Amino acid sequence: MANEADKRAAALAAAEEIESGMLIGLGTGTTAAFAIARVGELVRGGLAVRAVATSLETERLARAAGIAMLDFADVPAIDLCIDGADEIDARLHAIKGGGGAMLREKIVASAALRMVVIADASKRVEAIGRAGVPVETLPFARAFVADRLESLGAEVTLRHRGGAPFATDQNNIILDCAFSAIDDPCRLADEIARIPGALGHGLFVSEVDAAYIATNGRVTRQTR
Ligand code: 5RP
Repeated sequence: MANEADKRAAALAAAEEIESGMLIGLGTGTTAAFAIARVGELVRGGLAVRAVATSLETERLARAAGIAMLDFADVPAIDLCIDGADEIDARLHAIKGGGGAMLREKIVASAALRMVVIADASKRVEAIGRAGVPVETLPFARAFVADRLESLGAEVTLRHRGGAPFATDQNNIILDCAFSAIDDPCRLADEIARIPGALGHGLFVSEVDAAYIATNGRVTRQTR
């Protein structure tokens, strides 16, 4: 079960990596929200950092915390990205997108010199896959992309919120893909990325450089 104190502990530990002058990427979700709050504290304490957001909600939280925000459209590269995950294994393969922000999260993580995941122990898994893989999809291509995903072995469900199809920050839909098992996450990531109309997916197989995982207040740091 998720543990709020451990989410915060992981976020505080990762925030130790922030140095003055850095441009940082702020993730999305309840764990990332603890990191955003911490960055806000550091800024109020005089640390000079600027940030980009991985979602509209994160942008709102970060501005409210007093963090100087840049438009990522103007930013080719960042120093450090701190984000949560839905699952992460010992190889630092992760699944993200429970909050539906994985397309922007993947872009910002890829732009980062260093990407760190923060999580409580409920996110640690032997092998990623149980969480299912969300795929941001152009609405125009819904049936086509769903068919291609099914041919990769997925049971595909259109994500809904409040009775209507979930709309991402880019106004696309999400196809949630359940796989009985993911034997080769890197191959699956490549195969999904090759489907026209599949704009982004939640498999992070090469982006994560380190993870801070908290268990009962104790944080362990794992690197590649
Ligand atoms: C959003 C994400 C989140 O980082 C992921 O869902 C974890 O969220 P939380 O920290 O709330 O459990 O990928 O797209």
